[in-house]
Amino acid sequence: MASDKSPADPFAAVREATAAHRAHHKGCGAYPYDNGPLLGALAATANARRILELGTALGYTALWFARGAPEAVIDTIDHDADHVHLAREQVEAHGMSGHIVVHQGEFAQVLRRLDPGYDVAFFDGFTPTRPVLRELRRLLRARGLLISANLTHKGAEAYLAALQDGKTWETAFLDEERETALSIKL
Ligand SMILES: C[S@@+](CC[C@H](N)C(=O)[O-])C[C@H]1O[C@@H](n2cnc3c(N)ncnc32)[C@H](O)[C@@H]1O
Repeated sequence: MASDKSPADPFAAVREATAAHRAHHKGCGAYPYDNGPLLGALAATANARRILELGTALGYTALWFARGAPEAVIDTIDHDADHVHLAREQVEAHGMSGHIVVHQGEFAQVLRRLDPGYDVAFFDGFTPTRPVLRELRRLLRARGLLISANLTHKGAEAYLAALQDGKTWETAFLDEERETALSIKL
């Protein structure tokens, strides 16, 4: 019988806490991204100092970014007060206060207040939209990396088309379904 050689996920308990939370939070969309280690590796490869995340939930992916890029500050945004409260608890429990900053609010509003110069940005907040992409482009540095999930969601068409225009982004897809893309800001 084949054995599973993949290393244990150091943040498995956060994934489990996210699932437990979702089970009793009506209409909750806090589904953890399925490949935390990949995000950690991408942050490390980029030698990121500033990372921006849209869609915190309980902080699973923010913790992975922090693990991959120990020198980085991760700004992560969520509008759900319960998620923000639980994520801040996880950040503190993992000794990441000051390293991961959880902002509460709508993406559009919080993004407007942030300064440009991010090395990596990650969209994981339900359906990606064109106005949000414009803000992400403003905030990413030249040649910065944008990781976009949920591209198969209905309503993501304009965002997806912009990523593939060949002039403003260099884009590669991570999977056959084209659910997640890696894009470099040109
Ligand atoms: C798929 S979950 C994020 C999962 C998280 N990245 C992880 O892997 O654990 C999406 C999150 O985005 C938040 N969200 C969705 N739309 C938002 C918006 N317009 N502004 C702020 N937060 C939003 C939801 O409250 C939810 O917690």
